[in-house]
Amino acid sequence: MKAGADRSALVVYESMFDNTAHVAEAIARGLERAGFEAHAVPVTSLAASGPMKVDLLAVGAPTHTFTLSRRETRVDAARRGAPSGRVAIGLRDWIAGVTPGRFGTERVVVFDTRVTRVRRLRLAAGVTAARLLRRRGFRLLRKPVAFMVDETSGPLREGEVARAERWGQMMGAACRDDLAAA
Ligand SMILES: Cc1cc2nc3c(=O)[nH]c(=O)nc-3n(C[C@H](O)[C@H](O)[C@H](O)COP(=O)(O)O)c2cc1C
Repeated sequence: MKAGADRSALVVYESMFDNTAHVAEAIARGLERAGFEAHAVPVTSLAASGPMKVDLLAVGAPTHTFTLSRRETRVDAARRGAPSGRVAIGLRDWIAGVTPGRFGTERVVVFDTRVTRVRRLRLAAGVTAARLLRRRGFRLLRKPVAFMVDETSGPLREGEVARAERWGQMMGAACRDDLAAA
């Protein structure tokens, strides 16, 4: 544990064009401000790692065709210029194999990125991820949150990185409240 940190969190993300990665890193910084040791890790490098104990998982992905990506939509993203090494594994695949026991916690918060603010708000990566995580035995501490990008490949809209940092800090506080109530 880093000096000053008494809790830990892992931010697991999928990202084709790096926008969700920037959000994930900002969330990790916010969690650090809340006294957590926090790391943001892409789902592509987590698949092979072993068990790990944390107090909170934060999980996020880009919205593809109103839901979590599938291989075909990641291929589509690669065709539009995203690195092809990111096609193989998406957040959906990772969730399918994960259990609360693997991370020593059932506490999870969820975020996504998307281009559309209003239309079909209820059909997005975060909503799907939340549903699938619940089915795997996780407990959502707060409703999923969306961060906006200007175009498919980005950039993130102005102010979104700062908002992600604040959200991370708030989720750290929510986790502390939950731990205190347990
Ligand atoms: C194949 C594909 C489908 C997409 N479908 C949607 C969508 O249904 N709704 C939306 O708001 N954005 C959609 N987008 C835009 C993505 O949400 C955007 O590319 C993503 O948030 C960027 O994050 P990343 O850089 O982490 O990949 C789509 C993008 C791709 C490549």
